[in-house]
Amino acid sequence: MLIVGDCNPDVVVVGDDVAPAFGQQEKLVDGISLVTGGSASIMAVAAARLGLRVGLAAAVGADAAGEFMLGRLAAEGVDTSAMVIRPDRATAMTVVLSRPHANDRAILTALGAMPTVTPADLAPAMTAGLRHLHVSSYFLLQRSLGPGLAELFAVARSRGITTSLDTNWDPAQRWSDERLRAVLAETDVLMPNEAEAMHLSGKDEVGDAVRSLSADGPRVVVKLGSQGALAADGRSWHRAGLPAGLGPGFVDAIGAGDCFNAGVIAGLQRGLDLAGAMAVGCAVGSASTRAAGGTGARTDMAAALALARSVPVSSVPIGGRVARSR
Ligand SMILES: Nc1ncnc2c1ncn2[C@@H]1O[C@H](COP(=O)(O)OP(=O)(O)O)[C@@H](O)[C@H]1O
Ligand SMILES: [Mg+2]
Repeated sequence: MLIVGDCNPDVVVVGDDVAPAFGQQEKLVDGISLVTGGSASIMAVAAARLGLRVGLAAAVGADAAGEFMLGRLAAEGVDTSAMVIRPDRATAMTVVLSRPHANDRAILTALGAMPTVTPADLAPAMTAGLRHLHVSSYFLLQRSLGPGLAELFAVARSRGITTSLDTNWDPAQRWSDERLRAVLAETDVLMPNEAEAMHLSGKDEVGDAVRSLSADGPRVVVKLGSQGALAADGRSWHRAGLPAGLGPGFVDAIGAGDCFNAGVIAGLQRGLDLAGAMAVGCAVGSASTRAAGGTGARTDMAAALALARSVPVSSVPIGGRVARSR
């Protein structure tokens, strides 16, 4: 699998009072850590741990932050040969101000080199052995990657490579446009969270959002946070809950959606159907909430499949009215 998207360190600042005080004041906080960030990087690490052969294509600068990320990826067995180094730009960085007791966080991001990756940068990585192409954080990259992405997905599919997309949040709040709809038409699996699904479709109910987005082409899997996930594949609705075997111990949901994505794609690559793959996604996503950050929990495929067996999944046929109208 090749994952395209965002690659940056996260500086996570933890404490009850993490609000900066201007006027050159110094405050002490509970902890500050430097961890693997970026939706695409977190997904790549999770996928590698699930046993997939995975490469990451993302743009970083020739600086310490970029070296940190390349080192972390390599240590996890992620192929970094498709990474793009931009010597004239800084590697993207994020600062997360986290108040765990209030279950809230504020995020500051500088994009730096990140939004410079183009479809042309990816061509060398579209090798003969590639089976799946995933794009994360579309809205952060759309200026450089958007033009030509629909065509790249179409070329991939013509070679038998399946495609998936997680747009994540649109900081500009413009959401879908003609260009993105053209990408969706060439997307096999779309994996937004609930709020993103509704913004992408312009609907205010998640079922309507799924119906509307899948009318553009993809099978749609919507992440519902602590409620699990919902999917539609044209014939049926599938609803998954959280794994019963998980137990208590929630730490944070950073990267949960990215770990979920890795689980879904790993499940599909193993030949599971959409409902089965969604259960693997819930297993890996939920497991990731039991350790700090997006890569603190380490889930291999055996553990993911075992946990997925305790995920309740119900499937119902899509009603006649819906089926006829499509
Ligand atoms: N509080 C939680 N407890 C257990 N599992 C969770 C929790 N929040 C999220 N998850 C798991 O992670 C998946 C993705 O989480 P979600 O927060 O919806 O995605 P995103 O990070 O993209 O917003 C969910 O489908 C679920 O399986
Ligand atoms: Mg997400």
